[in-house]
Amino acid sequence: MRKAFVIGWPIAHSLSPDLHHFWIDRHAIDGSYEKIPIEPKDLDSFIRGFSDKGFVGGNVTIPHKEEAFRLCDVTDDHANAIGATNTLWLENNCLFGSNTDSYGFSTNLDDQAPGWDEVDTALIFGAGGASRAIIHAIQQRKIPRILLANRTRSRAERLAAHFGPDVIPADMQEVPTLVKGAGLIVNTTSLGMTGHEPLEVNLHNAAPECVVSDLVYTPLETPLLAQARKLGLRTSDGLGMLLHQAVPGFAKWFGIEPEVDQALRDHVLEILLRRDEPKSEIEAG
Ligand code: ATR
Repeated sequence: MRKAFVIGWPIAHSLSPDLHHFWIDRHAIDGSYEKIPIEPKDLDSFIRGFSDKGFVGGNVTIPHKEEAFRLCDVTDDHANAIGATNTLWLENNCLFGSNTDSYGFSTNLDDQAPGWDEVDTALIFGAGGASRAIIHAIQQRKIPRILLANRTRSRAERLAAHFGPDVIPADMQEVPTLVKGAGLIVNTTSLGMTGHEPLEVNLHNAAPECVVSDLVYTPLETPLLAQARKLGLRTSDGLGMLLHQAVPGFAKWFGIEPEVDQALRDHVLEILLRRDEPKSEIEAG
């Protein structure tokens, strides 16, 4: 039996086991994918010892992605550009690490908004870890100008310095003007997530062909995406990226390239909605 894992701290709410087990069942693989809570202090020993426990590799999530990158023997170009790994596997007794978030972002947009990369300017909100993966994805698709708006300008400046002169830091106050020239708008912050404030951006001046993407998937339609849809703009939700980023890891560990289709999406959505129910019952009652 081939065993994979996802580690994080906390990890209880990870949807990754649900989607990997959907593929394991679909392809009748003798395999498993376990959710394992790992405290930061235990990361090193877990990563060095997982093969002794019978694991072939796994996913790494918050807060371990950067430290896992440092612990790998070999990292690929994606992980190197982003400075973090989310996918680990063993090859010739060496620990390999990749970062599949950029792949997940781009392939999801290819699905949900074909032609999304045929634009001159992208506008990204946020300058944290998620933003790094999105900048890398957009640079790979050769969109020439990336405007990076962040509450804390110095963080946007640091990312711009890392990724090069095509990344231009901006203040949130400049956003109303920047929206007009953007062919792609992406939210990488946690704003708009259930229990958080919405991302306050007025899209009325956006070009009609602009694509609006949100990495948040709880709710599936964030206030930003709802506004974009009402204005007739094309949108792309965060669940699609979550599903697509899982593909390369599954292929490495289990030897089959799985498909992201409506059946998988419905399966994971049902789990997400079931999770929300008790909360709304409590809120209502
Ligand atoms: P991640 O690794 O998931 O991207 P992060 O590194 O904590 O998470 O980054 C979160 C991003 O959301 C940052 O760009 C943060 O802005 P700051 O750099 O100014 O902290 C942004 N963010 C979070 N809460 C915010 C809020 N209330 N208003 C504006 N931006 C916010």
